[in-house]
Amino acid sequence: MDRIRIGGGRRLSGEIPISGAKNAALKLMAAALLTAEPLHLANIPRLADVRAMAELLKSFGVAVTHTPGKGLGEGDTYTLHAAAITSSFASYDMVRKMRASFQVLAPLLARHGEAKVSLPGGCAIGARPVDLHLKALEALGAQVTLEDGYVIATAKSGLHGARIEFPFVSVGATETALMAATLARGETLIGNAAREPEIEDLARCLIAMGAKISGMGTSRLTVEGVSSLHGASWSVMHDRIEAGTYAIAVAIAGGEVELLGARRDCIAPLLDLLEQSGTDTRDTNRGIALHRNGARPASVDLTTAPFPGFPTDLQAQFMALMTVGEGTSVIRETIFENRFMHVPELGRLGADIRVNGDVATVRGVPKLKGAPVMATDLRASSSLVLAGLVAEGETIVNRVYHLDRGFDRLEEKLRGVGAEIVREKE
Ligand code: EPZ
Repeated sequence: MDRIRIGGGRRLSGEIPISGAKNAALKLMAAALLTAEPLHLANIPRLADVRAMAELLKSFGVAVTHTPGKGLGEGDTYTLHAAAITSSFASYDMVRKMRASFQVLAPLLARHGEAKVSLPGGCAIGARPVDLHLKALEALGAQVTLEDGYVIATAKSGLHGARIEFPFVSVGATETALMAATLARGETLIGNAAREPEIEDLARCLIAMGAKISGMGTSRLTVEGVSSLHGASWSVMHDRIEAGTYAIAVAIAGGEVELLGARRDCIAPLLDLLEQSGTDTRDTNRGIALHRNGARPASVDLTTAPFPGFPTDLQAQFMALMTVGEGTSVIRETIFENRFMHVPELGRLGADIRVNGDVATVRGVPKLKGAPVMATDLRASSSLVLAGLVAEGETIVNRVYHLDRGFDRLEEKLRGVGAEIVREKE
Protein backbone atom coordinates (compact mmCIF):
# COMPACT_ATOMS: atom_id res chain seq x y z
CA MET A 1 0.00 0.00 0.00
CA ASP A 2 1.38 3.43 -0.91
CA ARG A 3 2.17 6.02 1.73
CA ILE A 4 2.87 9.73 1.69
CA ARG A 5 5.89 11.27 3.39
CA ILE A 6 5.71 14.95 4.31
CA GLY A 7 8.46 17.23 5.63
CA GLY A 8 6.75 19.96 7.67
CA GLY A 9 7.52 23.67 7.80
CA ARG A 10 7.57 24.77 4.13
CA ARG A 11 5.61 27.86 3.10
CA LEU A 12 3.46 27.46 0.00
CA SER A 13 3.65 29.70 -3.02
CA GLY A 14 2.24 29.58 -6.56
CA GLU A 15 -0.97 28.25 -8.04
CA ILE A 16 -3.01 25.06 -7.80
CA PRO A 17 -5.47 24.05 -10.53
CA ILE A 18 -8.68 22.73 -8.98
CA SER A 19 -10.05 19.56 -10.58
CA GLY A 20 -13.62 18.63 -11.43
CA ALA A 21 -15.84 17.69 -8.48
CA LYS A 22 -15.86 14.03 -7.48
CA ASN A 23 -19.33 14.29 -6.00
CA ALA A 24 -20.72 15.83 -9.18
CA ALA A 25 -18.81 13.58 -11.60
CA LEU A 26 -19.99 10.30 -10.08
CA LYS A 27 -23.68 11.26 -10.31
CA LEU A 28 -23.27 12.70 -13.82
CA MET A 29 -21.72 9.40 -14.89
CA ALA A 30 -24.73 7.53 -13.45
CA ALA A 31 -27.03 9.90 -15.38
CA ALA A 32 -25.65 8.46 -18.64
CA LEU A 33 -27.92 5.46 -17.94
CA LEU A 34 -30.95 7.68 -18.53
CA THR A 35 -30.40 7.99 -22.28
CA ALA A 36 -29.72 5.68 -25.23
CA GLU A 37 -27.49 8.40 -26.77
CA PRO A 38 -23.87 9.21 -25.79
CA LEU A 39 -23.19 11.56 -22.86
CA HIS A 40 -19.85 13.38 -23.19
CA LEU A 41 -18.44 14.48 -19.82
CA ALA A 42 -15.41 16.78 -19.63
CA ASN A 43 -13.36 17.95 -16.62
CA ILE A 44 -13.65 14.58 -14.88
CA PRO A 45 -11.11 14.25 -12.05
CA ARG A 46 -8.55 11.42 -12.11
CA LEU A 47 -9.73 9.37 -9.14
CA ALA A 48 -10.11 5.75 -8.07
CA ASP A 49 -13.85 6.33 -7.50
CA VAL A 50 -14.32 7.56 -11.09
CA ARG A 51 -12.56 4.45 -12.44
CA ALA A 52 -14.80 2.28 -10.22
CA MET A 53 -17.94 4.01 -11.50
CA ALA A 54 -16.80 3.51 -15.11
CA GLU A 55 -16.33 -0.23 -14.43
CA LEU A 56 -19.77 -0.45 -12.84
CA LEU A 57 -21.38 1.27 -15.84
CA LYS A 58 -19.61 -1.16 -18.19
CA SER A 59 -21.22 -4.04 -16.30
CA PHE A 60 -24.65 -2.63 -17.30
CA GLY A 61 -23.65 -2.60 -20.99
CA VAL A 62 -22.47 1.03 -21.19
CA ALA A 63 -19.71 1.68 -23.74
CA VAL A 64 -17.06 3.80 -22.00
CA THR A 65 -14.44 5.87 -23.84
CA HIS A 66 -11.85 7.59 -21.66
CA THR A 67 -9.49 10.32 -22.90
CA PRO A 68 -6.96 11.55 -20.33
CA GLY A 69 -6.52 15.33 -20.06
CA LYS A 70 -3.14 17.02 -20.41
CA GLY A 71 -1.30 17.92 -17.22
CA LEU A 72 -2.81 18.82 -13.88
CA GLY A 73 -4.91 21.66 -15.25
CA GLU A 74 -7.06 19.68 -17.67
CA GLY A 75 -9.58 17.08 -16.58
CA ASP A 76 -10.23 13.76 -18.28
CA THR A 77 -13.06 13.25 -20.76
CA TYR A 78 -15.45 10.31 -20.71
CA THR A 79 -18.00 9.38 -23.34
CA LEU A 80 -20.63 7.08 -21.88
CA HIS A 81 -23.01 5.38 -24.26
CA ALA A 82 -25.84 3.30 -22.77
CA ALA A 83 -27.40 2.29 -26.12
CA ALA A 84 -29.00 -0.73 -24.44
CA ILE A 85 -28.99 -1.72 -20.79
CA THR A 86 -27.92 -5.35 -20.69
CA SER A 87 -27.88 -5.82 -16.91
CA SER A 88 -29.32 -3.84 -14.00
CA PHE A 89 -27.52 -5.62 -11.17
CA ALA A 90 -25.02 -3.80 -8.89
CA SER A 91 -23.26 -6.24 -6.56
CA TYR A 92 -22.50 -5.89 -2.86
CA ASP A 93 -18.78 -5.88 -3.64
CA MET A 94 -19.19 -2.80 -5.80
CA VAL A 95 -21.57 -0.75 -3.65
CA ARG A 96 -19.72 -1.63 -0.43
CA LYS A 97 -16.52 -0.07 -1.79
CA MET A 98 -18.14 3.12 -3.02
CA ARG A 99 -21.46 4.35 -1.67
CA ALA A 100 -21.98 6.64 -4.67
CA SER A 101 -22.53 3.54 -6.81
CA PHE A 102 -25.96 3.28 -5.12
CA GLN A 103 -26.86 6.29 -7.30
CA VAL A 104 -27.27 3.97 -10.30
CA LEU A 105 -30.52 2.66 -8.80
CA ALA A 106 -32.77 5.56 -9.88
CA PRO A 107 -31.56 5.89 -13.49
CA LEU A 108 -31.61 2.10 -14.03
CA LEU A 109 -35.15 1.91 -12.69
CA ALA A 110 -36.41 4.95 -14.61
CA ARG A 111 -35.00 3.83 -17.96
CA HIS A 112 -35.05 0.03 -17.68
CA GLY A 113 -38.04 -0.55 -15.37
CA GLU A 114 -36.12 -2.65 -12.87
CA ALA A 115 -32.90 -2.77 -10.91
CA LYS A 116 -31.25 -4.85 -8.21
CA VAL A 117 -28.69 -2.86 -6.28
CA SER A 118 -26.90 -3.83 -3.08
CA LEU A 119 -27.60 -1.82 0.07
CA PRO A 120 -24.46 0.19 0.86
CA GLY A 121 -24.26 -1.18 4.42
CA GLY A 122 -22.42 0.55 7.25
CA CYS A 123 -19.50 2.82 6.51
CA ALA A 124 -16.67 4.45 8.36
CA ILE A 125 -18.42 7.80 8.83
CA GLY A 126 -21.69 6.51 10.24
CA ALA A 127 -24.69 4.30 9.52
CA ARG A 128 -25.75 6.16 6.34
CA PRO A 129 -29.08 4.49 5.55
CA VAL A 130 -30.92 4.87 2.21
CA ASP A 131 -34.51 4.98 3.48
CA LEU A 132 -35.17 8.42 1.95
CA HIS A 133 -34.02 7.22 -1.48
CA LEU A 134 -36.38 4.25 -1.31
CA LYS A 135 -39.37 6.28 -0.06
CA ALA A 136 -38.88 8.74 -2.92
CA LEU A 137 -38.84 5.92 -5.48
CA GLU A 138 -41.98 4.40 -3.93
CA ALA A 139 -43.75 7.76 -4.10
CA LEU A 140 -42.90 7.80 -7.81
CA GLY A 141 -44.67 4.44 -8.24
CA ALA A 142 -41.85 1.90 -7.84
CA GLN A 143 -42.34 -1.40 -6.03
CA VAL A 144 -39.39 -1.72 -3.69
CA THR A 145 -38.44 -4.86 -1.77
CA LEU A 146 -35.39 -5.72 0.28
CA GLU A 147 -33.96 -9.21 -0.14
CA ASP A 148 -30.68 -10.59 1.24
CA GLY A 149 -29.11 -7.15 1.47
CA TYR A 150 -30.30 -6.05 -1.98
CA VAL A 151 -32.83 -3.44 -3.05
CA ILE A 152 -35.07 -4.77 -5.79
CA ALA A 153 -37.03 -1.99 -7.44
CA THR A 154 -39.46 -2.42 -10.30
CA ALA A 155 -41.74 -0.11 -12.26
CA LYS A 156 -42.99 -2.26 -15.12
CA SER A 157 -45.37 0.37 -16.47
CA GLY A 158 -43.05 3.28 -15.73
CA LEU A 159 -42.83 5.85 -12.93
CA HIS A 160 -45.33 8.66 -12.33
CA GLY A 161 -44.97 12.17 -10.93
CA ALA A 162 -45.45 12.73 -7.17
CA ARG A 163 -45.02 15.18 -4.30
CA ILE A 164 -41.97 14.23 -2.28
CA GLU A 165 -41.27 16.09 0.95
CA PHE A 166 -38.01 15.03 2.57
CA PRO A 167 -38.05 15.05 6.41
CA PHE A 168 -34.43 16.28 6.41
CA VAL A 169 -31.90 17.26 3.79
CA SER A 170 -30.11 14.47 1.92
CA VAL A 171 -27.83 15.05 -1.06
CA GLY A 172 -28.08 11.49 -2.37
CA ALA A 173 -31.85 11.14 -1.91
CA THR A 174 -32.45 14.47 -3.68
CA GLU A 175 -30.37 13.20 -6.62
CA THR A 176 -32.23 9.87 -6.66
CA ALA A 177 -35.61 11.66 -6.77
CA LEU A 178 -34.38 14.10 -9.42
CA MET A 179 -33.00 11.47 -11.78
CA ALA A 180 -36.03 9.20 -11.42
CA ALA A 181 -38.50 12.06 -11.94
CA THR A 182 -36.95 13.13 -15.27
CA LEU A 183 -38.49 10.06 -16.97
CA ALA A 184 -41.69 9.80 -14.84
CA ARG A 185 -45.12 10.61 -16.33
CA GLY A 186 -46.30 14.03 -15.12
CA GLU A 187 -44.99 16.52 -12.58
CA THR A 188 -42.87 15.85 -9.50
CA LEU A 189 -42.33 18.33 -6.67
CA ILE A 190 -39.33 17.72 -4.45
CA GLY A 191 -39.58 19.63 -1.16
CA ASN A 192 -36.75 20.17 1.35
CA ALA A 193 -34.33 19.29 -1.44
CA ALA A 194 -30.58 19.54 -0.80
CA ARG A 195 -29.05 22.66 -2.39
CA GLU A 196 -25.45 21.53 -2.79
CA PRO A 197 -23.90 22.99 -5.97
CA GLU A 198 -23.23 19.47 -7.27
CA ILE A 199 -27.01 18.91 -7.42
CA GLU A 200 -27.41 22.01 -9.54
CA ASP A 201 -24.61 20.73 -11.80
CA LEU A 202 -26.49 17.44 -12.20
CA ALA A 203 -29.81 19.23 -12.84
CA ARG A 204 -28.25 21.48 -15.49
CA CYS A 205 -26.71 18.51 -17.27
CA LEU A 206 -30.08 16.72 -17.17
CA ILE A 207 -31.66 19.84 -18.71
CA ALA A 208 -29.01 19.73 -21.46
CA MET A 209 -30.19 16.13 -22.02
CA GLY A 210 -33.78 17.32 -22.46
CA ALA A 211 -35.13 17.14 -18.89
CA LYS A 212 -37.57 19.79 -17.66
CA ILE A 213 -36.44 20.94 -14.23
CA SER A 214 -36.96 24.23 -12.40
CA GLY A 215 -36.06 25.58 -8.95
CA MET A 216 -32.32 24.81 -9.17
CA GLY A 217 -30.36 26.14 -6.23
CA THR A 218 -33.52 26.28 -4.05
CA SER A 219 -34.99 23.69 -1.70
CA ARG A 220 -38.02 23.12 -3.99
CA LEU A 221 -37.37 21.39 -7.29
CA THR A 222 -40.05 20.85 -9.91
CA VAL A 223 -39.61 18.20 -12.61
CA GLU A 224 -41.94 17.74 -15.56
CA GLY A 225 -41.29 14.21 -16.79
CA VAL A 226 -40.39 13.53 -20.44
CA SER A 227 -40.64 10.27 -22.37
CA SER A 228 -36.93 10.09 -23.20
CA LEU A 229 -33.69 12.03 -22.77
CA HIS A 230 -31.05 12.58 -25.42
CA GLY A 231 -27.25 12.81 -25.44
CA ALA A 232 -25.36 15.96 -24.41
CA SER A 233 -21.92 17.39 -23.62
CA TRP A 234 -21.24 18.64 -20.14
CA SER A 235 -18.21 19.97 -18.28
CA VAL A 236 -18.18 19.01 -14.58
CA MET A 237 -18.06 21.88 -12.05
CA HIS A 238 -14.90 22.43 -9.98
CA ASP A 239 -14.41 20.51 -6.73
CA ARG A 240 -15.28 22.92 -3.91
CA ILE A 241 -14.05 20.44 -1.28
CA GLU A 242 -10.67 20.13 -2.99
CA ALA A 243 -10.52 23.94 -3.27
CA GLY A 244 -11.42 24.28 0.42
CA THR A 245 -8.78 21.74 1.41
CA TYR A 246 -6.02 23.67 -0.40
CA ALA A 247 -7.31 26.96 1.05
CA ILE A 248 -6.81 25.43 4.50
CA ALA A 249 -3.37 24.18 3.40
CA VAL A 250 -2.32 27.80 2.83
CA ALA A 251 -3.80 28.85 6.17
CA ILE A 252 -1.90 26.14 8.05
CA ALA A 253 1.44 26.27 6.20
CA GLY A 254 1.51 29.99 5.42
CA GLY A 255 2.33 31.54 2.05
CA GLU A 256 0.47 32.84 -0.97
CA VAL A 257 -1.41 30.60 -3.40
CA GLU A 258 -4.02 31.11 -6.11
CA LEU A 259 -6.62 28.36 -6.47
CA LEU A 260 -7.48 28.26 -10.17
CA GLY A 261 -11.15 27.68 -10.88
CA ALA A 262 -12.30 28.03 -7.24
CA ARG A 263 -15.45 30.06 -6.56
CA ARG A 264 -16.31 32.00 -3.40
CA ASP A 265 -20.04 31.26 -3.51
CA CYS A 266 -19.29 27.54 -3.24
CA ILE A 267 -17.16 27.79 -0.05
CA ALA A 268 -18.26 31.10 1.49
CA PRO A 269 -18.58 29.84 5.12
CA LEU A 270 -15.06 28.38 4.99
CA LEU A 271 -13.54 31.58 3.57
CA ASP A 272 -15.34 33.63 6.26
CA LEU A 273 -13.83 31.46 9.00
CA LEU A 274 -10.39 31.59 7.39
CA GLU A 275 -10.63 35.41 7.34
CA GLN A 276 -11.69 35.45 11.00
CA SER A 277 -8.72 33.27 11.90
CA GLY A 278 -6.27 35.53 10.06
CA THR A 279 -5.92 34.36 6.44
CA ASP A 280 -6.55 36.90 3.66
CA THR A 281 -8.79 35.72 0.84
CA ARG A 282 -9.25 37.55 -2.44
CA ASP A 283 -11.24 36.83 -5.61
CA THR A 284 -9.15 36.94 -8.77
CA ASN A 285 -10.25 36.60 -12.36
CA ARG A 286 -8.96 33.02 -12.33
CA GLY A 287 -10.20 31.86 -8.93
CA ILE A 288 -9.39 32.69 -5.31
CA ALA A 289 -6.05 33.84 -3.87
CA LEU A 290 -5.10 33.16 -0.25
CA HIS A 291 -2.37 34.75 1.77
CA ARG A 292 -1.14 34.08 5.26
CA ASN A 293 1.95 35.13 7.15
CA GLY A 294 3.59 32.72 9.57
CA ALA A 295 1.54 33.68 12.65
CA ARG A 296 -0.64 31.11 14.42
CA PRO A 297 -4.30 31.22 13.35
CA ALA A 298 -6.89 32.54 15.78
CA SER A 299 -9.18 29.78 17.06
CA VAL A 300 -12.76 29.96 15.78
CA ASP A 301 -15.80 27.69 16.26
CA LEU A 302 -17.69 25.87 13.55
CA THR A 303 -20.84 23.80 13.07
CA THR A 304 -21.35 21.71 9.95
CA ALA A 305 -24.65 22.05 8.05
CA PRO A 306 -26.13 21.28 4.63
CA PHE A 307 -25.29 23.81 1.88
CA PRO A 308 -25.04 26.80 2.14
CA GLY A 309 -23.67 25.96 5.61
CA PHE A 310 -20.16 24.77 6.46
CA PRO A 311 -19.64 21.41 4.65
CA THR A 312 -19.07 18.27 6.68
CA ASP A 313 -16.52 17.31 3.99
CA LEU A 314 -14.23 20.13 5.22
CA GLN A 315 -14.67 19.58 8.95
CA ALA A 316 -11.63 17.32 9.42
CA GLN A 317 -9.38 19.68 7.44
CA PHE A 318 -10.49 22.74 9.41
CA MET A 319 -9.91 20.85 12.63
CA ALA A 320 -6.30 20.26 11.52
CA LEU A 321 -5.91 24.06 11.25
CA MET A 322 -7.46 24.60 14.67
CA THR A 323 -4.98 22.21 16.32
CA VAL A 324 -2.37 24.97 16.02
CA GLY A 325 -4.83 27.79 16.72
CA GLU A 326 -4.34 30.42 19.39
CA GLY A 327 -7.18 29.63 21.79
CA THR A 328 -9.90 26.98 21.89
CA SER A 329 -12.17 25.96 19.02
CA VAL A 330 -15.48 24.13 19.41
CA ILE A 331 -16.36 22.01 16.36
CA ARG A 332 -19.82 20.47 16.05
CA GLU A 333 -20.57 17.80 13.43
CA THR A 334 -24.30 17.67 12.65
CA ILE A 335 -24.42 15.62 9.41
CA PHE A 336 -22.71 12.33 10.26
CA GLU A 337 -22.65 10.68 13.67
CA ASN A 338 -19.14 9.26 13.50
CA ARG A 339 -16.97 11.70 11.65
CA PHE A 340 -14.20 12.31 14.16
CA MET A 341 -11.90 9.40 13.29
CA HIS A 342 -9.14 11.85 12.51
CA VAL A 343 -9.07 12.98 16.16
CA PRO A 344 -6.85 10.21 17.62
CA GLU A 345 -4.52 10.48 14.61
CA LEU A 346 -4.17 14.25 14.99
CA GLY A 347 -3.48 13.46 18.65
CA ARG A 348 -0.47 11.36 17.55
CA LEU A 349 0.95 14.57 16.08
CA GLY A 350 0.51 16.36 19.42
CA ALA A 351 -2.95 17.92 18.98
CA ASP A 352 -5.08 18.45 22.09
CA ILE A 353 -8.67 17.45 21.20
CA ARG A 354 -11.49 16.14 23.36
CA VAL A 355 -14.62 14.62 21.82
CA ASN A 356 -17.98 14.53 23.55
CA GLY A 357 -20.77 13.19 21.34
CA ASP A 358 -21.00 15.39 18.25
CA VAL A 359 -18.68 18.08 19.64
CA ALA A 360 -14.89 18.24 19.48
CA THR A 361 -13.09 20.80 21.61
CA VAL A 362 -9.72 21.69 20.16
CA ARG A 363 -7.20 23.48 22.37
CA GLY A 364 -4.59 24.98 20.10
CA VAL A 365 -0.96 24.00 20.71
CA PRO A 366 2.06 26.04 19.52
CA LYS A 367 3.50 23.11 17.56
CA LEU A 368 2.67 19.72 16.11
CA LYS A 369 5.37 17.09 15.76
CA GLY A 370 5.58 14.67 12.81
CA ALA A 371 4.69 10.97 13.29
CA PRO A 372 3.31 8.03 11.32
CA VAL A 373 -0.50 8.26 11.03
CA MET A 374 -3.35 6.61 9.16
CA ALA A 375 -6.98 7.34 8.61
CA THR A 376 -10.12 5.50 7.73
CA ASP A 377 -11.78 7.89 5.31
CA LEU A 378 -11.00 10.28 2.55
CA ARG A 379 -11.42 13.70 4.16
CA ALA A 380 -9.83 12.50 7.42
CA SER A 381 -6.74 11.46 5.43
CA SER A 382 -6.50 14.90 3.87
CA SER A 383 -6.63 16.50 7.33
CA LEU A 384 -3.54 14.47 8.29
CA VAL A 385 -1.69 15.68 5.19
CA LEU A 386 -2.55 19.29 6.17
CA ALA A 387 -1.32 18.71 9.71
CA GLY A 388 1.86 17.21 8.25
CA LEU A 389 2.53 20.44 6.34
CA VAL A 390 2.96 22.31 9.62
CA ALA A 391 4.24 19.55 11.93
CA GLU A 392 7.91 19.70 12.87
CA GLY A 393 9.90 16.93 11.16
CA GLU A 394 8.43 14.07 9.18
CA THR A 395 4.84 12.84 8.97
CA ILE A 396 4.01 9.60 7.17
CA VAL A 397 0.40 9.15 6.09
CA ASN A 398 -0.48 5.50 5.59
CA ARG A 399 -3.43 4.02 3.68
CA VAL A 400 -3.13 6.53 0.85
CA TYR A 401 -5.81 4.71 -1.14
CA HIS A 402 -8.37 6.78 0.77
CA LEU A 403 -6.84 9.96 -0.67
CA ASP A 404 -6.72 8.47 -4.16
CA ARG A 405 -10.50 7.98 -4.01
CA GLY A 406 -11.15 11.70 -3.85
CA PHE A 407 -8.10 13.93 -4.43
CA ASP A 408 -6.75 14.20 -7.97
CA ARG A 409 -2.92 13.96 -7.75
CA LEU A 410 -2.75 15.67 -4.35
CA GLU A 411 0.97 15.26 -3.77
CA GLU A 412 1.82 16.62 -7.23
CA LYS A 413 -0.37 19.67 -6.63
CA LEU A 414 1.13 20.37 -3.21
CA ARG A 415 4.69 19.79 -4.45
CA GLY A 416 3.95 22.29 -7.22
CA VAL A 417 3.52 25.04 -4.60
CA GLY A 418 6.65 24.10 -2.65
CA ALA A 419 5.51 21.48 -0.14
CA GLU A 420 7.94 18.70 0.69
CA ILE A 421 5.76 15.71 -0.05
CA VAL A 422 6.45 12.41 -1.79
CA ARG A 423 4.56 9.20 -2.41
CA GLU A 424 6.31 5.96 -1.62
CA LYS A 425 5.19 2.84 -3.44
CA GLU A 426 5.19 -0.46 -1.57
C1 EPZ B 1 -22.99 13.10 -0.01
O1 EPZ B 1 -23.25 11.88 0.66
C2 EPZ B 1 -21.51 13.12 -0.33
N1 EPZ B 1 -21.16 11.96 -1.13
C3 EPZ B 1 -20.71 13.11 0.97
O2 EPZ B 1 -19.33 13.23 0.64
C4 EPZ B 1 -21.12 14.31 1.82
O3 EPZ B 1 -20.44 14.24 3.05
C5 EPZ B 1 -22.63 14.28 2.04
O4 EPZ B 1 -23.33 14.23 0.77
C6 EPZ B 1 -23.13 15.52 2.80
O5 EPZ B 1 -22.79 16.68 2.10
C7 EPZ B 1 -21.34 11.96 -2.43
O6 EPZ B 1 -21.85 12.93 -3.01
C8 EPZ B 1 -20.89 10.77 -3.18
P1 EPZ B 1 -26.62 12.65 2.56
P2 EPZ B 1 -24.72 11.36 0.88
O7 EPZ B 1 -27.63 11.74 1.98
O8 EPZ B 1 -25.55 11.73 -0.30
C9 EPZ B 1 -28.69 10.60 6.40
C10 EPZ B 1 -17.06 12.58 0.63
O9 EPZ B 1 -16.15 12.56 1.49
N2 EPZ B 1 -29.52 9.83 5.46
O10 EPZ B 1 -26.78 14.10 2.37
O11 EPZ B 1 -24.62 9.94 1.24
C11 EPZ B 1 -27.22 10.21 6.35
O12 EPZ B 1 -26.97 9.07 7.12
C12 EPZ B 1 -18.46 12.11 0.94
O13 EPZ B 1 -16.88 12.97 -0.54
C13 EPZ B 1 -30.55 9.05 5.92
O14 EPZ B 1 -30.78 8.94 7.15
O15 EPZ B 1 -25.16 12.22 2.14
C14 EPZ B 1 -26.56 11.46 6.86
O16 EPZ B 1 -26.57 11.47 8.27
C15 EPZ B 1 -18.58 11.53 2.33
N3 EPZ B 1 -31.34 8.36 5.02
C16 EPZ B 1 -27.45 12.58 6.34
O17 EPZ B 1 -28.69 11.95 6.02
C17 EPZ B 1 -31.13 8.46 3.67
O18 EPZ B 1 -31.87 7.81 2.90
C18 EPZ B 1 -26.95 13.31 5.08
O19 EPZ B 1 -26.55 12.36 4.13
C19 EPZ B 1 -30.08 9.27 3.20
C20 EPZ B 1 -29.29 9.96 4.10
